[in-house]
Amino acid sequence: MTSPSPVAEPLEASLESVVTETFGAEALAEVSGLLPVLVRDLSEVDWRLEEVLGSTFAQLTEAARYACSTGGKRVRPLLMAVTARALGSDSTGPIRSLAAAFQLIHTATLVHDDVIDHADTRRGRPSVPRAFGTPLAIVSGDYLFVRAFELAAEYPRPIILRCGEACADLVEGEVLQESSRFDLSSGREHYVRIVERKTAAIIAAALASVAEIQAAAPAIVDAVQAYGRALGIAFQIRDDLLDVYGDPDLLGKPLYTDLREGNPTLLSLEAFRRLDPKRQAEYEALFQRRHKKTKHLLRLRELTDLTDAAAAVADEANQWADRAIRALEPLPEGPYHHLLDLLAHGAAARRF
Ligand code: IPE
Ligand code: IPE
Ligand code: MG
Ligand code: MG
Repeated sequence: MTSPSPVAEPLEASLESVVTETFGAEALAEVSGLLPVLVRDLSEVDWRLEEVLGSTFAQLTEAARYACSTGGKRVRPLLMAVTARALGSDSTGPIRSLAAAFQLIHTATLVHDDVIDHADTRRGRPSVPRAFGTPLAIVSGDYLFVRAFELAAEYPRPIILRCGEACADLVEGEVLQESSRFDLSSGREHYVRIVERKTAAIIAAALASVAEIQAAAPAIVDAVQAYGRALGIAFQIRDDLLDVYGDPDLLGKPLYTDLREGNPTLLSLEAFRRLDPKRQAEYEALFQRRHKKTKHLLRLRELTDLTDAAAAVADEANQWADRAIRALEPLPEGPYHHLLDLLAHGAAARRF
């Protein structure tokens, strides 16, 4: 059954700007010849989503379709398509449903994350909880997870289990994050444990699954998994930096959510650690406030500006990107391998 309108905005018009804005003009220039192929790959993933979400009772799917309708950067399907091609596939047909599944899982996590973070805006529009209310946001996030597993069920059992494990990691990441809310003593290791689970696990699982579907050697499966994990950590470190220093119009979400919600990030942990004792006390008192006003958030940023935390955190994101690139060494050389390298640096340096 066809649906009344496409689930996601057309890619053709947006992938180029996504690649330039996310990964820089340099990346675009180097890979411009590959873009038409990738646009087609990602469009096919979108159409798979269309089929899945368009085939059921409209009222039930309204919030779920709304959540998918802006598409986002489609970083996970993009990484999956590029990985498939870097491993020698000349078609992404065999991974299409899985890429759609991971995009749905990602979207589901955003819907639930916006409930948890009390976020009103996502991808430049009212978030699902804002537009439909919290109960429907919870239910539609669940619905997206279920639909994702319906797609994953097209694959062999180890792939389905890998998807399930990644989702369990994700939930664990959110629970760990909750356990350290407002707690600046939670430390860097705790932060990395959260990020590994809430962001990197899904990317690592997606890429390892692609390699498995292509019957790659175990060393290659491990390599792309390690790449996905390191890239995912770089991606989230960058996201946390953009929460304070990004352009909200480009990001499509407001600044200071992590500060407001008291989620310790590498940036807040590093800023706090670098301040003198008096300012440290001020930073902590502000960070721990349950109801922060704009002036409190701006003061937290001002205190951060007094340190070199932002530069140190940007550097750390780049180090994770370098680690991702090193993990790919067992892969054959070629343009798509090179693109994976660029995407790792892009994840660490992206503007949205
Ligand atoms: C946002 O992910 C949540 C994080 C893991 C930081 P994306 O930045 O990939 O979100 P969209 O899909 O492009 O909106
Ligand atoms: C990523 O963390 C959340 C998930 C992986 C679900 P954030 O809470 O920082 O993501 P944004 O900033 O809301 O996109
Ligand atoms: Mg959030
Ligand atoms: Mg964030």
